[in-house]
Amino acid sequence: MKQVTVLAPAKLNLSLDVVGLLPNGYHDLDMVMQTITLYERLTLRRSPELSLRLPGSWVPVNEKNTAIKAATAFFNYTGIAGGADMEIVKKVPVRAGMAGGSADAAGVLVGLNALYGAHLSMSELCALGAKIGADVPFALMGGTCRVQGVGDFIKALPPCPQCWFVVVMPSVGVSTPEAFARYDRMGSPVHPDCAAQEAAIRDGDLYNLCAAAGNALEHCSGAVETPHIKEVLNAHGAITSLMTGSGAAVFGVFEDEAKARAARTALREEYRQVYLARPDKGGARVLPYRPDRDRKPAPRPQPDRDPREPGKNKPRR
Ligand code: C5P
Repeated sequence: MKQVTVLAPAKLNLSLDVVGLLPNGYHDLDMVMQTITLYERLTLRRSPELSLRLPGSWVPVNEKNTAIKAATAFFNYTGIAGGADMEIVKKVPVRAGMAGGSADAAGVLVGLNALYGAHLSMSELCALGAKIGADVPFALMGGTCRVQGVGDFIKALPPCPQCWFVVVMPSVGVSTPEAFARYDRMGSPVHPDCAAQEAAIRDGDLYNLCAAAGNALEHCSGAVETPHIKEVLNAHGAITSLMTGSGAAVFGVFEDEAKARAARTALREEYRQVYLARPDKGGARVLPYRPDRDRKPAPRPQPDRDPREPGKNKPRR
């Protein structure tokens, strides 16, 4: 195999509780995580060297980039003397709490495993991924999971009941370490019942799932637009709305597609990055080989641009 294409989904936290502080400064978490139909798209080609392109993205390409870290970990672990020419079309907002960087790492691990026929097991990939970022093992597993510890205890749950998510990324993102540091100073009035949410998912009960939703980092994220976005989502019929991860993205859960679409339309008047998504059942995965797509060099995507005419609406954040 000379080239693989990988889809790596973003995640939302249907709940996030902080239950303790570990000796290494990391936080002991209890969460329900869900992958959604918003994807990073990776193209990996065999090459003697390692290279990475992120067309249209401002994310720096250096040794701290999770995709580079994942590729380095893969080649070190397998002992394969090779490299890869990697291109990632980033669709997942950055500093959003949606695990875009972890999705990139998971996509690289899964993609290189296929490209080089290394046959690493899911647990080997998760062990490699855990060293790169706390959310990488979940980004590999995907679907609906109860995730505890620092992201290392993962229990697959039945798929979350069918619903629609409207996800809004405000103009200013959040740094994860800074959000946790603020939590250490401020604490939180919110501690969601993740066990109750797991039970609701097992019952296929969207309303109880939403009743148990909450994020212990929401009040200390520093993301000032969260209350306003939640208000708009709720006014358009979201069953619940909350911040994901350490922020700054905020999402609403809708049972009704028309209400979700109306919420998206309203929020697009104010925000540039607004997404409509559904639950996804998996994690990072290689797409089946397609000669028409995979034989040609990948097209160079345009930088992220607002598809609508400028000046049509009031300025957006
Ligand atoms: O592992 P990851 O790079 O996603 O984590 C970023 C930062 O978030 C860590 O350096 C740490 O400060 C904080 N963190 C934490 N507890 C966790 C996960 C992350 O304190 N469970």
